Amino acid sequence: MKELKILAVVVLFTIATYIGVEPYAHSQMHPHVEAPDYTFKDVDGLNTLQGNAQVGEALVQANCTACHSIEKAGFPPVMDNASAAAAYGVVPPDLSTAGKLYNADYLAAFIKDPATASKVSHKFVDGRVHPMPQYNWMQPQEIADMVAYLQSIAPKEMTNKEVFQDACQRCHGIKYGDMQKGTMAAKSPVENIKAYMGKIPPDLSQYIRSRGAQYLHEFVNDPQKHLEGTAMPRVGLTKASEEQVIAYMEEVGDSKKAEREALGPKFLIYLVIFAIFAWLWKISKWRDVH
Ligand code: HEC
Ligand code: HEC
Repeated sequence: MKELKILAVVVLFTIATYIGVEPYAHSQMHPHVEAPDYTFKDVDGLNTLQGNAQVGEALVQANCTACHSIEKAGFPPVMDNASAAAAYGVVPPDLSTAGKLYNADYLAAFIKDPATASKVSHKFVDGRVHPMPQYNWMQPQEIADMVAYLQSIAPKEMTNKEVFQDACQRCHGIKYGDMQKGTMAAKSPVENIKAYMGKIPPDLSQYIRSRGAQYLHEFVNDPQKHLEGTAMPRVGLTKASEEQVIAYMEEVGDSKKAEREALGPKFLIYLVIFAIFAWLWKISKWRDVH
């Protein structure tokens, strides 16, 4: 009886501490943020305009290829990564896959006004300007045409790694992604990206473990939600592309996850069997004492 009473007291205090303290601590250390919004309803996007890819092709060629390569359409980079990063602070991404990676409304809004769409206008004050010009002087129809063109050349399928490379690697390395050759280093040299961003974007190899998938989804969809004032731009990925990026971070940083989770139930079964034997053994030992 005495043992049961002690157990009851311990259980009671544990429950009281859990209910009283845990929700408070959680709300302080990991504040609730709204779920990711993959429709980007805050941006001034296409506004239902339908684009013409053929017209868009000429417009993209005239306006974008001075900075961006579009390898798939036959536009190689104008300069190597080191010179591009020195000129712009960061290597402008190749646009071959932009039509697949980015939400169409976000893409239109980004072309019109990059800093506002990616929620980093707080960085571009006191005469500093975003390295990509605004195209809000163009007709909304022309913007829609360029988006249609980028969508028309984008591949239907991409691997998780390719999505990461095109969406994140201009700023972030993920060195465990390719340990032997080290090819998953960030594309922009550290000194340029640091000068542009104000700090060095971290290597993402272990972020799936330190932050977890849910945080990463909320963060990538809108970095300002978790780190107000951060230099990391909103990237504007569709839900599918974002899932691929985070799947890649899991492949690299937590490759044994499935194995580990499969072990859980087996271990619990072992514990139950072991507990039965321990209990039987206890009975046999105490039988003579009482
Ligand atoms: C003067 C150079 C320059 C020109 C011209 C330019 N861009 Fe960019 N663009 C950049 C740079 C630099 C970045 C990377 C900015 C960053 O990561 O902060 C970028 C980023 C982008 C991105 C990535 C957006 C994201 O959310 O990650 C897209 C898409 C893009 N540009 C499309 C275009 C299109 C379409 C045009 C033509 C209408 C164009 N750019 C013209 C320099 C340029
Ligand atoms: C234009 C550069 C740029 C791009 C592109 C970019 N990031 Fe970042 N990212 C940063 C910077 C700078 C920081 C550091 C922010 C800070 O500490 O305020 C950062 C921080 C992070 C963090 C750490 C957040 C934390 O809680 O500390 C994660 C995770 C992350 N980025 C993921 C991504 C992913 C995934 C992508 C691609 C979809 C991406 N980033 C694209 C610049 C970038």
